[in-house]
Amino acid sequence: MLILGIESSCDETAAAVLRDGREVLASVVNSQIALHSPYGGVVPELASRNHLENIEPVVQAALTQAGVSLREIDGLAVTQGPGLVGSLLVGLSFTKALSAVTTIPYVCVDHIVGHLLSIFLEKEAPPFPYLALVVSGGHSSIFRVADYSTCTLLGRTKDDAAGEAFDKVAKLLGLPYPGGPAVSATARQGDRQAIDFPRAWLEGESLDFSFSGVKTAVANYVAQRKARGETLPIPDICASFQEAVVEVLVEKTLTAARATGVRNLVLAGGVAANPRLREHLRERGAARGLQVYLPLPEYCTDNAAMIALAGHHRFHEATRALDTDVYSRSHLGRPSGKPGKHSYGGPTDGGRPWPCC
Ligand code: KG4
Ligand code: ZN
Repeated sequence: MLILGIESSCDETAAAVLRDGREVLASVVNSQIALHSPYGGVVPELASRNHLENIEPVVQAALTQAGVSLREIDGLAVTQGPGLVGSLLVGLSFTKALSAVTTIPYVCVDHIVGHLLSIFLEKEAPPFPYLALVVSGGHSSIFRVADYSTCTLLGRTKDDAAGEAFDKVAKLLGLPYPGGPAVSATARQGDRQAIDFPRAWLEGESLDFSFSGVKTAVANYVAQRKARGETLPIPDICASFQEAVVEVLVEKTLTAARATGVRNLVLAGGVAANPRLREHLRERGAARGLQVYLPLPEYCTDNAAMIALAGHHRFHEATRALDTDVYSRSHLGRPSGKPGKHSYGGPTDGGRPWPCC
């Protein structure tokens, strides 16, 4: 079965062709970094206009790279949410139009499900159940993944996402956009013990995260040094900030493993490309006898191969309906299934199916 995946939830226009849920025949990602760079963050209006220009050539490039024609495609898979509404609408509208003219059915995919399942693009994939730490620009959550269609949210950020904190700290330090890769590259020259930035463990064995405190601590540190006329030790700030974030992410994932008894850990999302996070989770996991699975960095950041893969596993839901809408906020893995509701299942929760189209 050949699935054409389409992703446009934020600032990457991406298309991929996947054979039989495993073999990536093509994965094309058109990044808008240069476009948003002067603003230090994604400008939603510019993002959607750029998706509009790029979506057709990117899909065409994926088909060419895969060496297949549209006639050979069995199904389309598209990101429905969460993300920027204007950006999501470009991908979904394009997919509906393509489906209408070709009669190829399409299936809607939750972007976070794409990240959760991205590990199946690798040769070595975990058995179910596994715990997934999803860390991106918009999300920092721990999920228990029971099978291809069921997960439970165990913890999530109460304020900033980890990637967002990286991006904001980078901006504060005058590093280029996107901040995550810039901070992690600069951190390589720094001392991670140089500055003792706070770790937010929250109450008890909480599996929730909070990254606004460490971000504010960096801002205060920078302001104080500037007020005293001192130069900023930028590599040390990057390394110490990164260590504070990584330590919390890793320790809470290990706490989740202890609480649930699940022994397989998966890292996903853009921040999962961070070398220090990968190294620390691998080391700490191994010390506890846990199996750690890491997707290639190119499958950590946004891509359409993970959307095609998630679509493959829910292809029985494929449709050609024209009234499907996008959504901006995630309600994945919460028993209520309602967007914006703050209650969600704990380790003993039986899990919920992914949200439907
Ligand atoms: O998953 P993703 O590509 O898009 C979202 O769904 O948000 O994640 C993007 C985020 C950005 O905040 C970016 O700064 C961060 O991932 N990121 C990193 C690294 N590479 C990307 N953060 C830390 N270290 C990295 N090496
Ligand atoms: Zn993402």
